[in-house]
Amino acid sequence: MAVCVFPGSFDPVTKGHLDLIERASRLFDEVIVAVLYNPAKTGLFPAEERIGLLRKACEHLSNVRFECFDGLLVDFMRSCDARVVIRGLRSTADFESEFQMAQLNHQMEPDVETLFMTTAPEYAHVSSSAVREIGSFGGDISPFVPASIVPDVVSILCQH
Ligand code: PNS
Repeated sequence: MAVCVFPGSFDPVTKGHLDLIERASRLFDEVIVAVLYNPAKTGLFPAEERIGLLRKACEHLSNVRFECFDGLLVDFMRSCDARVVIRGLRSTADFESEFQMAQLNHQMEPDVETLFMTTAPEYAHVSSSAVREIGSFGGDISPFVPASIVPDVVSILCQH
């Protein structure tokens, strides 16, 4: 069975993330969306809420599951016996750090390969940090966040 891991912070999940998850779910038998949980560096959205939002946004995808991880991604990959990491590239600006991360992961665990998928052009400018900023000032986040979770994201942002 071909399995891939799509790791990230997903703080919160955006339409760009969802597009990549949907495309990966058509290429692989199973997609594991792995949400980084770093107790020392909590995001705006707690990890459980980020997973809840991801679950809701991906309800239509039957071969996608969600896990939290902390520590090294390569250790998580070993723990679920997966070898393929999927990462999205929005622009050449993403490439440098993504290239370094892929090389580091490959050096630490040579069985792990990183596959890059180019983000859909309509989402190339979308980021979780922009969603947090726009939402925190009361701006309309609906162009950037999956429709099914817009009210939840707005309500979580209002609590902060
Ligand atoms: O959505 P993000 O914030 O760009 O995702 C980054 C993520 C979670 C994929 C990356 O920070 C990560 O894999 N962190 C785990 C720690 C790790 O393995 N570091 C070594 C590779 S640099």
